[in-house]
Amino acid sequence: MKEARKNALLISLTFIGLGLLWIFISDTAAYSLSKKNYESFLIFQRYKGWVFMVITGLFLYGLVYKRSYRLIQSTEALQKKERQLERSKQHYKSLFNHNPDMVFELCRKGLFININPAGEGLLGHSASELKGKSVEMLLEGEALYEARRYYINSLNGYPQKYEIWIQSKGKKILLRVSMLPIIVSGEITGVFGIARDITTEKKKEEMMIVSEKMSVIGQLAAAVAHEIRNPLTSLKGFVQLMQTSKEYNSNYLSIMFSEIERINLIAGEMLILGKQQDIRFAKKDSKEILKQVLVLMEAQANLNNIAIECVDETTASTNVLCDSNQLKQVFINVIKNALESIPSNGEIWIKMKSLPHKVIIEIVDNGHGIDQERLDRLGEPFYSTKEKGTGLGLAVSYSIIERHSGSIHITSEVGKGTKVDIILPTV
Ligand SMILES: Nc1ncnc2c1ncn2[C@@H]1O[C@H](COP(=O)(O)OP(=O)(O)OP(=O)(O)O)[C@@H](O)[C@H]1O
Ligand SMILES: [Mg+2]
Repeated sequence: MKEARKNALLISLTFIGLGLLWIFISDTAAYSLSKKNYESFLIFQRYKGWVFMVITGLFLYGLVYKRSYRLIQSTEALQKKERQLERSKQHYKSLFNHNPDMVFELCRKGLFININPAGEGLLGHSASELKGKSVEMLLEGEALYEARRYYINSLNGYPQKYEIWIQSKGKKILLRVSMLPIIVSGEITGVFGIARDITTEKKKEEMMIVSEKMSVIGQLAAAVAHEIRNPLTSLKGFVQLMQTSKEYNSNYLSIMFSEIERINLIAGEMLILGKQQDIRFAKKDSKEILKQVLVLMEAQANLNNIAIECVDETTASTNVLCDSNQLKQVFINVIKNALESIPSNGEIWIKMKSLPHKVIIEIVDNGHGIDQERLDRLGEPFYSTKEKGTGLGLAVSYSIIERHSGSIHITSEVGKGTKVDIILPTV
């Protein structure tokens, strides 16, 4: 509007200016011609109006053409930008509406601004019901504090990735969430979230871990039974001796007591390992967990004539936040692999070392080793080179250690042996 008024003003001012200039020029010329040549003066008088019309017409044509050309050009550029904006809006909308994952937008206060149809289905609430409500209504207990921490981190500009249990349609579901800040003109205005229901996936993984554990227990059973049989034989011997001699022998009794203790320890460890428990993370000493595992593994090692040497080189805390039964499962799997790689009369060295805020459990064997091609496939489920192996031992161990925010590194040389480093964060 302003531009139109400006243009009209410019055209009329130009017209007036040209008119005034022409009047001045033509009057001066007419005056001087009237004095010099009356005939020329008459011709000039007759045509001066025409000349003015042609010059002014041409001038105004040029001016209007230039102005409107610029106007049309800028309108076209604007329309092009609008079309581009509309297209990117539609792209975003289609990414939002047709995404099979839940996509949602929260304001700085953690209130829902928008949620896509997948999210509505997952949470059992419509977008209009959720609008303006706090995301905290879906969370309770520890999950609430965790979610707040992740939310604040993403508001501070750090994208977050985490798993969290939420309340949805009256039941609990596990979500894998990615959160990223929404940055508009350099300012964080809220947070975008993408979430997927991984409850079934997690349950399957848990079932795989449990069934693998049961298979490990089954495999250990023979060695454990054998290990228990030895002290039982000596117990039987002492009982028979005392029975025939009808004498009380305190030396025999103390040996018998320590043998019973060993049976108790082994049976106890086997029972704890086999117990179906909820996964519960707690602060535990990894050194103690390893010690308990060795009670069982020594049974297997003795059966195969293999020595296990354990060295503690730690200089800091070895406490880790863990599910002790799952960690035992990892140690058993790795030590069992080491035992199985040694044909006979071999040795296994277990070393515990400290790193800043970490503990390393190093398990070294002098078995047949692993070539490069096989090394690359370790951890792949069902990959086994053993006749009776399930190929799940390492796959499960990797996934357990990942849950504990740790890592496993394997190096090996064919004919020399293998070294497995299990690294866990300490608390
Ligand atoms: N210490 C080791 N020395 C040599 N080879 C190893 C060692 N650890 C693992 N491997 C190789 O990695 C493969 C996969 O190990 P993983 O523990 O996953 O399965 P498995 O031992 O074959 O079966 P399962 O654990 O069910 O008995 C093994 O078959 C073996 O070839
Ligand atoms: Mg194995």
